[in-house]
Amino acid sequence: SASGNGAAASRGLWSSRLAFILAATGSAVGLGNIWKFPYVTGENGGGAFVLVYLLCIAVIGIPIMMAEVFIGRNGRHNPITSMRLVAERNLKSPLWRASAIVGMIAAFVILSFYSVIGGWSASYIEHAAMGDFTGGTAESIGDLFGGLLASPVQLLIWHTIFMALVVLVVSRGLKGGLERAATILMPALFILLLAAVGYATTTGHFGEAVSFLFTPDFGALSISGVLIALGHAFFTLSLGMAIMMAYGSYLGRDVSIARTAISVAIMDTVVALLAGLAIFPVVFANGLEAGAGPGLIFQTLPLAFGNMPLGGLFGTLFFVLLLFAAWTSGISLLEPVVEWVEERSSLGRSASAILVGVLCWALGIASILSLNVWSDFAPLGMFERFDGKTIFDLLDYVTANIMLPLSGLLTAVFVGWFVARESLKLDLALEGGAFTLWYNLIRFVTPVAVVIVFAYNLMA
Ligand code: PHE
Ligand code: NA
Repeated sequence: SASGNGAAASRGLWSSRLAFILAATGSAVGLGNIWKFPYVTGENGGGAFVLVYLLCIAVIGIPIMMAEVFIGRNGRHNPITSMRLVAERNLKSPLWRASAIVGMIAAFVILSFYSVIGGWSASYIEHAAMGDFTGGTAESIGDLFGGLLASPVQLLIWHTIFMALVVLVVSRGLKGGLERAATILMPALFILLLAAVGYATTTGHFGEAVSFLFTPDFGALSISGVLIALGHAFFTLSLGMAIMMAYGSYLGRDVSIARTAISVAIMDTVVALLAGLAIFPVVFANGLEAGAGPGLIFQTLPLAFGNMPLGGLFGTLFFVLLLFAAWTSGISLLEPVVEWVEERSSLGRSASAILVGVLCWALGIASILSLNVWSDFAPLGMFERFDGKTIFDLLDYVTANIMLPLSGLLTAVFVGWFVARESLKLDLALEGGAFTLWYNLIRFVTPVAVVIVFAYNLMA
């Protein structure tokens, strides 16, 4: 068949189902779980937000992940070409590849600022190792973070290091870097998070954090909070940016797409919740602001590390693993665009990776400057909705809340309504009831949910 292993042999396949799961989990588990989830939860009032988010994962995230992996595996090319091929096989317009194009632009833009934050993680390895957190107060640690953000040079150095790490791995291709990193680092990250949660139980504020995360207070959840929950469901599962299409293009025919997608979503969610349980007890114990925003993990966790036995060592390890979590995600953001350049140009793998990496690095400089020199510059400030949002804020907002859901919506509609049912049944290899459930979710529930949230957003 056109999507059989034979057709793909020349471009390489993941060496096993587990390798794919770990790589996809490596993509999913990243700063979104450990940095973003806790702070958006904090900003949106806690439990109610978490509930909506979990619903979005189950009803929208998992079905779309399956659809993306299907397109990649069926097309066996970069996301744009795969989508066109799948459309043509179903006698549908090649314009459907717009979905992959939006997704790949989003991936490129996200990597530009994701790398800046990945750089913060790298810089914190140094701080932790040098003992800069030891005996720290909320104030001294806040100053440390403020100092980093205020320095374009420091930010640029760490951003450059992070981007170089990403390019290095992607230039080495599928098995050489990517698989190996995911296999070693994901389990280690999980163990360290458990240790951090263990520490959090000793702060005396663990119960407070549990009720903050799990007691729904719908009064604290605004409509824009619902939009953010949906956007974050996409972001955290690495959906709507063609990544799962790219990764699926290297997936063997024998692997169950459904089981794989569910495993990845569960692991991602568990890591996000553990991160919340590690961070909020420390937040409450130190009288910090739960809605503190993007700096939360860079100000609260170091405080804990600075005041616990072996905190220097533990803190160093934590930020090393945070860096690795961000690294495996960064790799997956670069992969779709590089796969596309490699297939569509005469450039080889390495040259493609370097070219795309350098362009993305350059865009990242705008985000770096928004943190200091341009911190008062709100390019879309004339619109109330974007008032006070810097370039960095805007890139984050527009990708997570508009581009990812849009790309995901197009993918869901395409797969649900324009791909032959038989072809889906064959590739997904689901039992009757499970197939019907997925098919109904992707045809009706997913598109309707995304459209409703969009409509609310337009009216809000
Ligand atoms: N899923 C990653 C996270 O939660 C973020 C990410 C988004 C990674 C897009 C890759 C692509 O951090
Ligand atoms: Na994630």
